[in-house]
Amino acid sequence: MSETTTISVAGDASYDILVGRGLLADLGSALPPGARKVLVVHPPTLAAEAAKLRESLMGEREVLLAEIPDAEQGKRIEVAAFCWQVLGQADFTRTDVVVGFGGGAVTDLAGFVAATWLRGIEVVQVPTTVLGMVDAAVGGKTGVNTAEGKNLVGAFWAPRIVLCDLDVLDSLSANERVAGFAEVVKAGFIWAPEILDLIEADPEAAVDPRSPAFRRCIELAIEMKARVVGEDLREAGLREILNYGHTVGHAIEHAERYRWRHGAAISVGMMFAAELSRLAGRLSDEGVQRHRDILTTLGLPTTYRGGAWPQLLATIKRDKKTRGAMLRFIVLDDIARPTVLQAPDESLLFAAYQEIAG
Ligand code: GLY
Repeated sequence: MSETTTISVAGDASYDILVGRGLLADLGSALPPGARKVLVVHPPTLAAEAAKLRESLMGEREVLLAEIPDAEQGKRIEVAAFCWQVLGQADFTRTDVVVGFGGGAVTDLAGFVAATWLRGIEVVQVPTTVLGMVDAAVGGKTGVNTAEGKNLVGAFWAPRIVLCDLDVLDSLSANERVAGFAEVVKAGFIWAPEILDLIEADPEAAVDPRSPAFRRCIELAIEMKARVVGEDLREAGLREILNYGHTVGHAIEHAERYRWRHGAAISVGMMFAAELSRLAGRLSDEGVQRHRDILTTLGLPTTYRGGAWPQLLATIKRDKKTRGAMLRFIVLDDIARPTVLQAPDESLLFAAYQEIAG
């Protein structure tokens, strides 16, 4: 087994994130010692691996599997109700545990089920995608979608531990890995420029799970997330920087009815945010070009269809209204210097959009 890195999240409910290889084999030691029952929540694509996990954990404990639909289809209240039913029928108590084994949607749902069962039981998160490791499984955001929007119902619920076993990424398609990598690139632009340097030095190695460069990028992105959520769990301030590229990115996901990968939408959203930063007199031309070069080198999109701005703006405004806030965009004063641009003029937003309209 390769060396394991431990990254800690500070705060009232502190926990560790382990990054390494072969970690799944040791899942038992990550569970609460008193847990007699374990519910492993997983998507259909991981049914065989979940069955293996069950085998490895059986003996001292009763292990149940809850297979839930893939991706956003799994983040529905009916799916949470199915999990509650499994927990209820198996008499799960406060000392038992839920394991979230899958991508970001699975860990969000598993966390929500754990947060709500008996007013909160422990959850161990085992993300199996790049996006899950560097974003969704770290930071305690859990929840489900409703017909009115994404993540409207949920809770902040810190995991007991997060296990990022890099072995599970070896079988992901290149497309899946690169799309997940958009969040790693975001970490580079807002916090850790070393990530950008590593991508520029060798883009292929940076996205190859077997390379040291990839592991370093993943660890830097997790370190950033851990630092940010350790300081600001409830998004009262610093955590907002994680929304870099997400305002327009989410609007694109909505316009595309969630058929675009999150990472692709965020990539275009970051390009928009970079152009907006430049037009607001903050980021240099070179800083914007660095965005375009890096995202393009990785095969991520940097443009969106012309003429779509009114629809995107309407979605952005509706989203902000739901949250009772005025329009706010995370922009950059420079690489690794994020800041908030509050209530920007709509003509500035349109001009930034024109720069990315394909
Ligand atoms: N995905 C953004 C956050 O965790 O705050």
